[in-house]
Amino acid sequence: MPFPATRLRRLRQNRTFRRLVRETTISVDDLVLPLFIVPGRGIKKEMESLPGNYHLSVDCLVEEARELRDLGISAILLFGVPDAKDKNERAFGAYSPTGIVQQAVRAVKENVPGLLVITDVCLCEYTPHGHCGVLKNDYLDNEASLELLVKTGLSHAQAGADMISPAAMLDGQIRALRQALDSSGFLNLPIMAYSAKFASKLYDPFFKEGTQSALTHGDKRTHQMPIGNSDEAMREIAMDVEEGADIVMVKPGLFYLDVVYRAKTEFNMPLAVYNVSGEYAMIDAAARLGRLDRDAVMFEALRCLKRAGADILITYAAKQAAKYLTSKKLSVSDAVPEVESFAGRELSMKFSGIDGTAGSAGLVGSQWKSSSSD
Ligand code: PBG
Ligand code: ZN
Repeated sequence: MPFPATRLRRLRQNRTFRRLVRETTISVDDLVLPLFIVPGRGIKKEMESLPGNYHLSVDCLVEEARELRDLGISAILLFGVPDAKDKNERAFGAYSPTGIVQQAVRAVKENVPGLLVITDVCLCEYTPHGHCGVLKNDYLDNEASLELLVKTGLSHAQAGADMISPAAMLDGQIRALRQALDSSGFLNLPIMAYSAKFASKLYDPFFKEGTQSALTHGDKRTHQMPIGNSDEAMREIAMDVEEGADIVMVKPGLFYLDVVYRAKTEFNMPLAVYNVSGEYAMIDAAARLGRLDRDAVMFEALRCLKRAGADILITYAAKQAAKYLTSKKLSVSDAVPEVESFAGRELSMKFSGIDGTAGSAGLVGSQWKSSSSD
């Protein structure tokens, strides 16, 4: 039906209509926050390139995890940042029972029940050269690296991880890990596969500052995917699904929305998207220059990732987003008067909430709907 019978602006005329027909919402349920764990005690040091994110020692991680759980965030994704002395060619720190991630997992599972703990299973943080496994003549040896990757995944499971997330882009890594988990009794431990992980230049803040595992030489193009290939990304996902992945992933997110969309429509699998360090850092840096509205653009990014097909959003903005979703100020700031009363009611319900926690999902979800991005 053409104009003038059809006027698409009818359903945009006020917030109430816009809410009614909104197709994509974000809730705290979708959010996974990556965290970087360092040895020591009492360490909570903000990262310059990822403001609002920290290097945390295990004791501070526990405090942080409590706060995140109370905000309603679903899960954390742990990365270890071992001392240089705890790195070697065989990445022994990755699968040591007393390794940094293993300690972190145990501490969070013991002290903060209810928060899912996911571990990144890769070796690059634990080798002196920063490559994702064992090098032979400077080439990443698939089978030799797989063996260490399996030891790493198993040790995370033994430490109590709720889910492991193999990140190395080795051929056969999901099959190897699934078999190892199953034969060790971890039948119910899901795998979130970094299935289509591109050899992107957007990981620099992660390596340079986050995990301090920048490559000493070479690059990761013999195992991570060529950035221009989307059919190949579908083959990677298909193989991971066949090998037993429970959740598949596309990474990075924002430049790769076509891949996200294809992944969702072609596989109908639970899909995670990693909104990587460079994506976060770009928006943050532009905001610092006064060129962009930081929060609005961060949320636009997250909403667009979800619209493209993401079910799970792994983002350095997760905590800020969760706070924003529960924030009284933002939830009523741009509401039209008749909606303000809804927002007010939601807030008073929340603050007199029966469970006493800040992040009851349904209420948080409805507050997100009153946020300024609508
Ligand atoms: C592998 C891993 C990386 C990232 C997450 N897991 C590095 C890589 O893939 O080469 C990057 C995440 C980011 O940039 O935020 N351990
Ligand atoms: Zn790696």
